[in-house]
Amino acid sequence: MRQPAHLTSRMPVSTVFIESHSDRALRWSWHAHVHGTPTDPVAQQWLAATLGVAPEMLNLGREPRGRPYLGPPHADYDCSWSHSGDGLLIALGHGVQLGVDCERVHARPRALELAWRFFTPPEHDWLAATEPGTTRDRAFLRLWCAKEAVLKAHGHGLSFGLEKLRFAETGEALALVECDAALGAANDWSLHEFEPAPGYVAALAWR
Ligand SMILES: CC(C)(COP(=O)(O)OP(=O)(O)OC[C@H]1O[C@@H](n2cnc3c(N)ncnc32)[C@H](O)[C@@H]1OP(=O)(O)O)[C@@H](O)C(=O)NCCC(=O)NCCS
Repeated sequence: MRQPAHLTSRMPVSTVFIESHSDRALRWSWHAHVHGTPTDPVAQQWLAATLGVAPEMLNLGREPRGRPYLGPPHADYDCSWSHSGDGLLIALGHGVQLGVDCERVHARPRALELAWRFFTPPEHDWLAATEPGTTRDRAFLRLWCAKEAVLKAHGHGLSFGLEKLRFAETGEALALVECDAALGAANDWSLHEFEPAPGYVAALAWR
């Protein structure tokens, strides 16, 4: 189920189940964010409220490369967040490994050049076939978010290599079709693309 989200200056404005069956539910929430301000307190507050515990009861830790995680008693949950422009997107999932990324949509005149440099050749070619301008800018950001969401779920970060995973559009959605063995099987990964607020694109990846 998808619902529109709005950007306001207040706390959580959207909490949406995008998948819900028995023990695997994913939720995301969009928050106003001032660039450069700490994200942990906002994340801690929303995660705790969503899990129904006091913020100080949440055991929020960081892996050595910076990936956030929830320790006991919520170790069977996973979380990730991303900030861009005026927004902060936080995701929480149960029984999954997840990563989320969002980007504010704006002109990307170097999209093809960046894709040639950092993406795979088929991804570059897909992008080159799009109409220059807004359509291509969005397509570039969709790919970027998809790749970064998987890499954030994995935890290594961008230095892992954006070219080590390849997305392709099937229907109107991007799907991971090929990846480095360190990421496991490509078809184990799911991707949900959405617009967390007007003027932003986002992707949530999980397995
Ligand atoms: C993680 C990374 C992909 C985020 O890129 P970004 O587009 O600049 O930022 P986003 O807003 O989308 O995400 C930032 C959030 O990702 C999370 N994050 C940081 N490192 C992460 C990692 N290795 N894996 C997953 N998530 C990570 C944090 O929650 C961070 O927010 P915070 O710093 O406010 O807490 C990028 O910064 C990166 O590749 N970092 C690698 C760090 C690294 O290798 N460090 C080595 C130190 S030994």
